Amino acid sequence: MLAQLDPLRAEALAALEQVQDEAALDGVRVHYLGKKGLITVLGAGMRDLAPEERKEAGARLNDVRTAVTTAVEAKQAALQSAKDAAAVAGIDVSLPGRPLAGAGALHPLTQIRDLAVRTLRRMGFALADGPEIETEWHCFDALNTPADHPARNEKDTFYLADGRLLRTHTSSVQVRTMETVKELPIRIIAPGAAYRRDEIDATHLSVFNQLEGLYVDKGVSLADLKGTLEFFFREIFGPRTAVRFRPHFFPFTEPSFEIDVKLEAKGREARWIEIAGCGMVDPAVFQAIGTTRSDSLLDPEQVTGFAFGLGLDRLAMILHGITDIRHLIENDVRFLGQF
Ligand code: PHE
Repeated sequence: MLAQLDPLRAEALAALEQVQDEAALDGVRVHYLGKKGLITVLGAGMRDLAPEERKEAGARLNDVRTAVTTAVEAKQAALQSAKDAAAVAGIDVSLPGRPLAGAGALHPLTQIRDLAVRTLRRMGFALADGPEIETEWHCFDALNTPADHPARNEKDTFYLADGRLLRTHTSSVQVRTMETVKELPIRIIAPGAAYRRDEIDATHLSVFNQLEGLYVDKGVSLADLKGTLEFFFREIFGPRTAVRFRPHFFPFTEPSFEIDVKLEAKGREARWIEIAGCGMVDPAVFQAIGTTRSDSLLDPEQVTGFAFGLGLDRLAMILHGITDIRHLIENDVRFLGQF
């Protein structure tokens, strides 16, 4: 048996030399080291040797097994690294990488909302909130809007089967705040979505974004309204921006105004753009909300207030010269990447 060992080792190592791929390597491994492989079978034959012979034979056989196993592993590693090298052949790993797509940024609408909120918070306005699915009471009745007002028409407003609706303006948050507030002054802003059944075009979407404001206290005047909003628009559009208050009508304010800002875009004739509605809170609104309260905090003989609602989409469009409101919801990175 000992005589067989050296030729067997030589034969196995020579066979490994010839191996070119993994299938062949596996064949050689099984032929010598597998369950019925030549080396394994020799090992089993040791049982038949005399004990004194067995010791030496066992050690020699182990040497052969180790040598062949090591050679198989070396061949395996060589095949693998040849494969790896082939996979990256022709790739220059020292070339600089491609830049990443960029870190992204806040949506222009989010930026404008944050700017508006920051500016108004500096003037003491606190954030308030209300649901987008509203009752007719909060959206219309409490705001002194009669049942036959066109805004309440099913053609203009999205109604749910249960009679509730998608709020047509953020003014409903005025009502919710006045219903629950504990003390004066009330000085809140409420940015959020509003819904109207508008024909969608370059200046209209059926979902848009407003920012509502409300200031109620003893002795709040129209001068406060003008001062606050002029300051606000000059903070947003620049200190020399012209702001004008044009008489208008809203059911829930009296007197009421629309606010225009004068836009002086380079190379274009200056023009006035409507940007917000506002006015002094109509006493009828205090009256209506007073009926839901158990106190007289909002006694129309005692308190006055002003309210305003501005279009955030429109603000973003003016500020950035965006000509089509639909860009704001299309999520086209070529558009968004500019802000
Ligand atoms: N809610 C009005 C609108 O959506 C805007 C407004 C708010 C007007 C507050 C006056 C006071 O057109």
